[in-house]
Amino acid sequence: MGPKARQAYLLASLLAVTFPAGLHASAGFIRAHGGKFVDEECKPFLASGVNTWELMEVAAGAVESKKVQLSNGQETDVVQWTLATAAANSLTVMRMFAHGVHPDFPLQIAPGEYNEKAFKALDYILDEASKLGIRVIMTLGDNWVGADSKPIYSSWSISAEESEDPDAFFSDPKCKQDYKNHIKKMVNRKNTRNKRLYKDDPTIFAWDLMNEPRCDCFPEEFPPPEYMTSCRPECAHKLQAWVAEMSSYLKAQDPKHMVTVGEEGFWGPGAKREHANPGNGWASLTGQNFTANMNLPTIDFAAVHLWPDNWEASASSGSMTGQLAIGLPGIANTQKVP
Ligand SMILES: *[C@@H]1O[C@H](CO)[C@@H](O)[C@H](O)[C@H]1NC(C)=O
Repeated sequence: MGPKARQAYLLASLLAVTFPAGLHASAGFIRAHGGKFVDEECKPFLASGVNTWELMEVAAGAVESKKVQLSNGQETDVVQWTLATAAANSLTVMRMFAHGVHPDFPLQIAPGEYNEKAFKALDYILDEASKLGIRVIMTLGDNWVGADSKPIYSSWSISAEESEDPDAFFSDPKCKQDYKNHIKKMVNRKNTRNKRLYKDDPTIFAWDLMNEPRCDCFPEEFPPPEYMTSCRPECAHKLQAWVAEMSSYLKAQDPKHMVTVGEEGFWGPGAKREHANPGNGWASLTGQNFTANMNLPTIDFAAVHLWPDNWEASASSGSMTGQLAIGLPGIANTQKVP
């Protein structure tokens, strides 16, 4: 992998397995088995890859950069270029926001009402990825602002929106039902290009429950006010209960695919490795509990997001350099990928 690829948003396996992988070299669905990723023939699968944010929008033509100019002056489709570059660098997995980033281009417009143009864009990406031997991690929603996000689900549910708890989303019955309905919709989506149901498509490496789910039991300003200390355990409990409930629902709807949380991977307050969290204390206040998630039978592997510049430097640095690492229960930790 060249330095260029390293600079990109990396998804790098912590496993020291060297095996030429990809859909061409590996058979069928990938699963976690005995501390390794394996294919259907039980051959080891090395996951190394790329993280993307707006490929759905790009594929749908909803943002400007649908074409990219190559050094020879030719223009090419960004989706094909992204996947081909990944394949050329021996990357095997691409994590993708299978939801909108921009508020004006959601996948789900209103509860149960979908943007077919966005769905067709996902169909296209999955089909192209399949041809190039890249597997895809599909993120089902976002913690942050934008489309298909926690604030949007909350706004659809009067109880959550009116609640004083900023994270009623994780426990509000209507929000939870809406999220489950979305899971059901996703796994049963029939790809308009290759006619596969998403739940039957081995191109999908795993589902990611939500991008960076947090219960923001403290406001954006840091340090959190003192009273927030008392709401920490409840906040963490709510988030963990949501992860357990949604992952088990997802497994019941789609038993073939792996499931991961999508969190940054912070240790909770009092955890033995809390000191390994980034920053000066805020990370353990986000409700994440890496230990709890690793223990869930419905979570197949763990992932951590690494934002060395943002987390280590001052909040005003404005850098957007991020990395992602994945590992399997029992061996994952917060060690940085090179
Ligand atoms: C995190 O999860 C572990 C395992 O379930 C549990 O023992 C611990 O109390 C949790 N920490 C917090 C802060 O909830």
